[in-house]
Amino acid sequence: MSSLASMVCGIAFRNPVLAASGTFGYGIEFEALADLNAMGGIVVKGLSREPIAGNPAPRLWEARAGMMNSVGLQNVGVRAFVAEKLPQLARFGVPVIANVFGYAAEDYVEVVRVLNDAPGLAAYELNVSCPNTKHGGIAFGVDEAALGALVAEVKAAAARPVIVKLSPNVAAIEPFARVAEQSGADAISLINTFIGLAIDVRTRGPRIGAGYGGLSGPAIKPIALRMVHQAAGAVKIPVIGIGGIHTGEDAAEFLLAGASLVEVGTATFWDPNAPVRIAAELGALLPELGVEKASELTGGYRRP
Ligand SMILES: Cc1cc2nc3c(=O)[nH]c(=O)nc-3n(C[C@H](O)[C@H](O)[C@H](O)COP(=O)(O)O)c2cc1C
Repeated sequence: MSSLASMVCGIAFRNPVLAASGTFGYGIEFEALADLNAMGGIVVKGLSREPIAGNPAPRLWEARAGMMNSVGLQNVGVRAFVAEKLPQLARFGVPVIANVFGYAAEDYVEVVRVLNDAPGLAAYELNVSCPNTKHGGIAFGVDEAALGALVAEVKAAAARPVIVKLSPNVAAIEPFARVAEQSGADAISLINTFIGLAIDVRTRGPRIGAGYGGLSGPAIKPIALRMVHQAAGAVKIPVIGIGGIHTGEDAAEFLLAGASLVEVGTATFWDPNAPVRIAAELGALLPELGVEKASELTGGYRRP
């Protein structure tokens, strides 16, 4: 086994650095820009029951140390993904994780049922940051009871491991990590974006079409790292760290905080091959950190 290989949820990853959902399309668009065969894994854009056109432009705004987005979960819908995108992506020898979302629990379950019949997927990642239309529009990920019920329903329907992607827009992350675990999640991933706002002072309107947007990139890394550390301390299931990872050293920090894998999002906007580069940097760093395998770093953070 190579120094970067790891086994998480029964899935063999050649390295622990995956492309994050929503920042890497359906993977195949990056064939000419990145070495897909060398990636730890690819998490595809969030999939819904029906196609979604997304939010009005502009959808992206560069913040001082990160990025705001409000894409509005644009996607081709789960059936078109299975018919047109997945067969092309499955040609690459890389674990593919389907990111799933909906506005009611039955939407998630329906998407998962369609995916269950498709070959070439390693796991499902649930995006629980969408407004729950059956619950007054409050996101599943900020309501413990709604989260628990959703995870239990999806888990009962899922033929593959279920990773629950937690929202950071909560006062304390530990209860949500515990609820996900107790409801049957095979792993948790965190964090999704922080809700933010950028204002154009001249027009007095928002910088992005939808108004509020999600903040990602280097600006959120210290908060993401703190939340990963807290969540990892609250559960026994594997944790996937996400948020502002840009270098191999960033990835090592998330592993030390308790993550078994990491996902890279915003960094791919300026370096499409970032996950591969970051994995190589992590590998080169291991001797200096005194370990033979990256997996030995997991949870190694020394509290003061
Ligand atoms: C343009 C954009 C689109 C995103 N779309 C999704 C999505 O569809 N589903 C999801 O779970 N997360 C989505 N995310 C969140 C990222 O997967 C990731 O959790 C977040 O950006 C933090 O990581 P980063 O700082 O490395 O970008 C999106 C992020 C961005 C920037």
